[in-house]
Amino acid sequence: MSDNAKEKPAETVQVEIRNLWKVFGRDPKKIVNGPLKDKSKEEIKKKTGCVVAMRNINLDIRKGEFYILMGLSGSGKSTLIRNLIRLVNPTSGSVTINGENVTKMSSEDLLQFRRKTFGMVFQHYGLLPHMTVLDNAAYGLKVRGLPKGERFAKAMRSLETVGLKGWEDSYPGALSGGMQQRVGLARALANDPEILLMDEPFSGLDPLIRRQMQDELVELQDRLQKTIIFVTHDLHEALKLGDRIAIMRNGEVVQVGSPEEIVTQPADEYVEEFVKDASPAKVLTAGSIMEDAKVLLYNWEGPKTALTLLRSHKRKAAFVVDKGHKLLGVIKESTLEKLIEADEKPSILPSDSIRKVSTVNEDTILEDLFSIVNENPYPIPVLRGDGRLAGVVTTDQIFESISPAEGENHD
Ligand SMILES: Nc1ncnc2c1ncn2[C@@H]1O[C@H](COP(=O)(O)OP(=O)(O)OP(=O)(O)O)[C@@H](O)[C@H]1O
Ligand SMILES: [Mg+2]
Repeated sequence: MSDNAKEKPAETVQVEIRNLWKVFGRDPKKIVNGPLKDKSKEEIKKKTGCVVAMRNINLDIRKGEFYILMGLSGSGKSTLIRNLIRLVNPTSGSVTINGENVTKMSSEDLLQFRRKTFGMVFQHYGLLPHMTVLDNAAYGLKVRGLPKGERFAKAMRSLETVGLKGWEDSYPGALSGGMQQRVGLARALANDPEILLMDEPFSGLDPLIRRQMQDELVELQDRLQKTIIFVTHDLHEALKLGDRIAIMRNGEVVQVGSPEEIVTQPADEYVEEFVKDASPAKVLTAGSIMEDAKVLLYNWEGPKTALTLLRSHKRKAAFVVDKGHKLLGVIKESTLEKLIEADEKPSILPSDSIRKVSTVNEDTILEDLFSIVNENPYPIPVLRGDGRLAGVVTTDQIFESISPAEGENHD
């Protein structure tokens, strides 16, 4: 893993998918275990009438990860998400969640496991129209047999989380699409599940509301840190929300990667077609393009050393860090000259001679660097989570990395 990868807590695999197949039709096991197994989806359909919805899927989804399943219509996304909790039973292979083999669970254990571990949000909100918003949000808890007081308290908290406080006594019909989807989300969250399954939850919404819901989900996930498995057709939604994206085609996974990897290194033409409209400025991060600062001054070394260093690199200014490598700001050659000429020569670089500068984090996307580039003449310092200087980004680097790749034969 590279130095600039996001620092995340220990990466525990929570959902382990192994050799998972789903074939719809008569005698599906015969296909998975027989010679037709390696034939194309079309050929199998023609010869047997069976539909291969998932072919030999292997994925590891980590705890706390926002995991996207993306692919064209019919590529198997919904089938995969449903197989995880056996709303559809796989033809072969295994799904292990929190170390438990879901594929082998008895139906009674499975029911318990689903209710305890999962929350589900689907495209059609699935709200019960004759029940109030509160009753809808509390529905899953009622099914679990929680006493009234407790389930209403939990459902209220969950409605608050999604910004629907005050609407608890309304009926779904009185709510907009976005609000109804929030009730769906509140219902899924009421039980405080470890894993959220979301199958195109926002695709029925107007673009503006959809973006707003995405923003809210990002913010919610920041606080809640659930494992989210999220299906979408929409590349921009995937890039905005996902920590990792799995791209499916004809029931197979063709690529798994971070948004940045998917956009910058598409595995084949199918993925390329998917990402061709993606703007690198929206996925590349400061951490991924930064370089080491060429000249770095240490505040305890004093003006003379600093000036010598600046001049030897023919620089007019440079960044200053303290002993902990924390960035203090920038100091100019002319300031150093004045300090040296002053009657009282300071032995360290005085803090009032160091100018504060705008900084960014390693995760900041390039698009958010543009305004800083415009307002300041220096490279942009990139800080680690603890405030230490990780590197710098120059205007040239930014524009180089977002301009389309040139052909092989450009010179
Ligand atoms: N119950 C079923 N019986 C037969 N074939 C099915 C069934 N459910 C899904 N399929 C087939 O399995 C394949 C995958 O379908 P799935 O619904 O998983 O795709 P998807 O990626 O979710 O598509 P969409 O983006 O349109 O929702 C398709 O070819 C579909 O026709
Ligand atoms: Mg689907």
